[in-house]
Amino acid sequence: MNVAETTRTFLGFFQDRGHQVIAGGSLVPPGDGPVLFTAAGMHPLTPYLDGGPPHPQGRRLTGLQRCLRTTDLGEVGDERHLTVFQMLGSWSLGDYGGPQSLRWGFELITEILGTKRDRLYATVFGGDGQLGPDLAAQRTWDELGVPVELTTDDNWWSNGPTGPCGPDSELFAWTGDGPPQGRPTTDERWMELWNHVTMRFRRHGDGRLEPLPRPNVDTGMGLERLLMITQGVPSVFGTDVFRPWMTALPALWQPDDLSLRLIADHLRASIVIIGDGVRPSSTGRGYVLRRLLRRVLTMLWRTDRSRTLGELPAGLLEHTLAQFGQDGDPELIRGILGDEERRFAELMTRGHKVLARFGRGWQPTSQDLSYLHQTHGLPPDLVTELLGEPGETRSRVLGR
Ligand code: GLY
Repeated sequence: MNVAETTRTFLGFFQDRGHQVIAGGSLVPPGDGPVLFTAAGMHPLTPYLDGGPPHPQGRRLTGLQRCLRTTDLGEVGDERHLTVFQMLGSWSLGDYGGPQSLRWGFELITEILGTKRDRLYATVFGGDGQLGPDLAAQRTWDELGVPVELTTDDNWWSNGPTGPCGPDSELFAWTGDGPPQGRPTTDERWMELWNHVTMRFRRHGDGRLEPLPRPNVDTGMGLERLLMITQGVPSVFGTDVFRPWMTALPALWQPDDLSLRLIADHLRASIVIIGDGVRPSSTGRGYVLRRLLRRVLTMLWRTDRSRTLGELPAGLLEHTLAQFGQDGDPELIRGILGDEERRFAELMTRGHKVLARFGRGWQPTSQDLSYLHQTHGLPPDLVTELLGEPGETRSRVLGR
């Protein structure tokens, strides 16, 4: 199944079980809240999950939401982490409970999408000082024949320090070549696929847990990860959502394997962020966008200074906007990419000139970095980049 068929199958499965499809929203949450970007499918549903008014579409919902996680940036480039991704979700707003959600999840993954049950493992909240283990989840997985590992912190989901939260149960899929080995916490070839949160509490500022008037279920599964399993490819970059990128970029810039993944991830993310109305800037959301683009340009220019984002085929921009359900104008986005590239090129030229005064091997102190930023407009990360060896930069980008 390709990405469109897989998405339709997921949403249709839940529609057949009484769920209404909710429209996915922007990466930029409405209002002036503290959250920079929508990072989970449940974000737009927070008021309804937190004991608020009834949702206008009812108590059973399903949908696909674009998400951005800056917390995963250091891991992008491995097999399974992406900056911007799509999250499939299902929700029970005070309707059915956790065991029903797990049973449907198992049915969809095994019977409809064809994953073998011996390639699945589940984790379940094992209890802590405040709450006992999630026996209902454990019993359900036992009945379904899925092995269970109990954990504490890894199986508690919250959307921040306060607000709705609860124990979760995560379904893992085996991604190794040989037969499955170990457990999710002992062998990282077990990949987290689908998180089912039994959202039963509200956390207050003083740490107190208050039971919610109506317990909910909130589930989220990364679409690209699901495709990795159902399409039988070793990484999210091998799925059909990335095919146009993986075909076009090697022909254009011949990057090594790692740079190819990073460039594809960061450019795809940048297009989606711009598509949701964000513009490069020195603070907040715009700064996240700027960092992504500068990382790409740094990688491209390391081997050939003449490379330019203007060479990106229009088809890549169109494909990405369509995949994320955005109606942005590809040419407008290309213009924004070009402006940002020019700004960065000027900054690089100025940076090289200024840093040349300090000679080779110079190690700036934090005061030096602040002077360079305030007096010459050179951000500390750019100075480190310009002074660093390519190898060092790479490890930093990858967080390895
Ligand atoms: N809301 C569940 C998750 O993002 O994993």
